[in-house]
Amino acid sequence: MKKELKISVFACMLMLLYSGCYFDNAENLYPDLPGDCDPTQVAYQTNIKPIIQQTCYTCHNSANATALGSGIDLENKTTLGQYVNSGAFLGSIEHSPGYVPMPDGGGKLTDCQIETIKNWINDGASTN
Ligand code: HEC
Repeated sequence: MKKELKISVFACMLMLLYSGCYFDNAENLYPDLPGDCDPTQVAYQTNIKPIIQQTCYTCHNSANATALGSGIDLENKTTLGQYVNSGAFLGSIEHSPGYVPMPDGGGKLTDCQIETIKNWINDGASTN
């Protein structure tokens, strides 16, 4: 009986160790990172717009810009281009000095999302 108890305690510790290693894996800690964000993929419709849509459109789409987004309509490609070219778009999401940090009142974008946007801008920031 005593021996059985020892064995089960040992088995339990093994299982704990094993699951500890399992959850150390980045893929399990951040389940939405690898699949959702690949900074080398920078097509506007597929990769860039969904990030802006998810994190900026609450205030900066055509419907809400006037009331919530200081009149800045990032759904409008011409306006988006202007803010990209001026550096304000990247400056605001990187929380660089001299720019109002965005998203306003929300958390910063993930490193991967920022990297994706940087690569898109370096690639010419096409909105096709
Ligand atoms: C909750 C509403 C809200 C969200 C979400 C939001 N913004 Fe803004 N944004 C504002 C407001 C309000 C201003 C004007 C701020 C000011 O002038 O103080 C602004 C200003 C800006 C500016 C001009 C900043 C400058 O320094 O000139 C840029 C660029 C911008 N937003 C980009 C973004 C981007 C990109 C996102 C998404 C990552 C985003 N915003 C998310 C409300 C928002």
